[in-house]
Amino acid sequence: MRWKPLCMLQGFACIAVFMFLLVFWLSSEAKSSQNLYKQLRQRRNFELLTVNERLFVEKNQNFVVPKQQVIPANSFVNEKVQTKVAVVPVQNVEEVPKASNQREALLILTSMRTGSSFTGQFFNQHPDVFYIFEPLFPFHDSCKIAVEKKIEVLEGLINCNFTALKFSVDESLYNAQQLLKVEQSASNLDHLKRRIKNLQTCKQSTICFRQSTKALCGKDFCPHAPSCSKCKTVPTMTQIERKCQEAKLVVIKSVRTCHVDWLSKTYSRTGIPVKILHLVRDPRATGLSRLTMHKGLGNATHEMLGNCQIDAKNMETRQAVAIKNDHWLTKRYMLARYEDILSNVAQFLDDVTEFLTRDSSVLKSASFNLTHPEVTKWFKTNSRTSGASIYSTSRNISKQASKWRKTIQPSLAFSIQKACEHMMSLFGYKPLKRPADLLDWSISLLSPLSKTV
Ligand SMILES: *[C@@H]1O[C@H](CO)[C@@H](O)[C@H](O)[C@H]1NC(C)=O
Ligand SMILES: *[C@@H]1O[C@H](CO)[C@@H](O)[C@H](O)[C@H]1NC(C)=O
Ligand SMILES: *[C@@H]1O[C@H](CO)[C@@H](O)[C@H](O)[C@H]1NC(C)=O
Ligand SMILES: *[C@@H]1O[C@H](CO)[C@@H](O)[C@H](O)[C@H]1NC(C)=O
Repeated sequence: MRWKPLCMLQGFACIAVFMFLLVFWLSSEAKSSQNLYKQLRQRRNFELLTVNERLFVEKNQNFVVPKQQVIPANSFVNEKVQTKVAVVPVQNVEEVPKASNQREALLILTSMRTGSSFTGQFFNQHPDVFYIFEPLFPFHDSCKIAVEKKIEVLEGLINCNFTALKFSVDESLYNAQQLLKVEQSASNLDHLKRRIKNLQTCKQSTICFRQSTKALCGKDFCPHAPSCSKCKTVPTMTQIERKCQEAKLVVIKSVRTCHVDWLSKTYSRTGIPVKILHLVRDPRATGLSRLTMHKGLGNATHEMLGNCQIDAKNMETRQAVAIKNDHWLTKRYMLARYEDILSNVAQFLDDVTEFLTRDSSVLKSASFNLTHPEVTKWFKTNSRTSGASIYSTSRNISKQASKWRKTIQPSLAFSIQKACEHMMSLFGYKPLKRPADLLDWSISLLSPLSKTV
């Protein structure tokens, strides 16, 4: 309203106002390009590059840029990364097709030495699945440490966003390297050096345990390797994220996700439905297996005490909401005992298929069935031989479930079952009455589990 008198008063005030408006306009341009950046980042189909302060988008084979949005003859090579880039003008962002979140997620909630690597393989073999093995490896085992960060990593992965995971590897590596400088005790030093080496391997191969993800071992990544473990090519972060996005189901197997509650907000934060497969095993078997892994060191009873408390708490959380039809966990939780899986794999595959496809338009329309030829082929090959490595998933299936009864010290079995009494009663593991029960095969230590949990 005051423009006119102002301009009449002094010529250069007019210019000042004009300059001000110009700067304002330019900065709003900058803002909208920031918005574009944000939106495109969310689509995660791009490597974004800034060249001469302008925004460019990597041409992506999976993404067809509508013709009118590409400024023709203006694609060029960024010197730094040697990537072909094309210009996308700011104004047409809304027309960019939305990435479809045609994906669901399953978290295998478990602890160490429960047969989870073996169980995870059923999922890994399925061509519609992107399987992620132990992504929380960079973190401390403790259920009380770095909980927020662990949740952030898990939710990122459910979203096929590997950024937080990458940061956690970098951060843990840095922390371990700092600790190495001050650590005095020889055994801690050994441990630290091993950890640094492992984290460096994670970094070099972009993610930890990249060879445990079959989707990253196909002919496109490993044209000459006969198996995942022999494949030495390193996929980029973008390639990993793309493969993840192509899957119908992301399956995460983690021994460091302690509580189901951790995922209670995941759906609202990611928009991707997540289900939980809670995998348990007889704590006496798990305890013995851990003791063997630790070469007899440590207090297996103490470890199992903590573990059993977590398993029990998760089950009780589930039971507490069973009557609430609208609770997020009600239809999203399945319990599996390792012993039951081994005794009837076909039944397990059926049950999981039913569980996963229930209320899932994505998996239903993909006719998802875990009893897939690739899955059964893997199982047939791997259930015949005994594995050499302690982390091996190969085993003689009929022996495996009760083998511990032959090798455990009766005193250990009794101390674990005392520490885990509550958990064992919840999950149907029967206590031994006498040491001789261990080798009396007429005595079953497993009671049937009701199918409704
Ligand atoms: C991916 O995750 C990182 C770290 O959690 C976050 O900053 C970023 O915004 C996420 N990207 C997208 C596209 O959601
Ligand atoms: C091992 O842990 C259990 C349970 O916490 C405890 O009762 C027992 O005393 C411990 N044993 C040793 C040798 O420290
Ligand atoms: C899954 O496939 C198996 C084997 O072909 C079949 O027996 C089973 O009925 C299928 N399950 C579903 C839910 O389609
Ligand atoms: C697997 O275990 C069963 C039962 O102990 C045994 O009869 C069979 O020979 C074993 N098979 C192999 C390949 O080791």
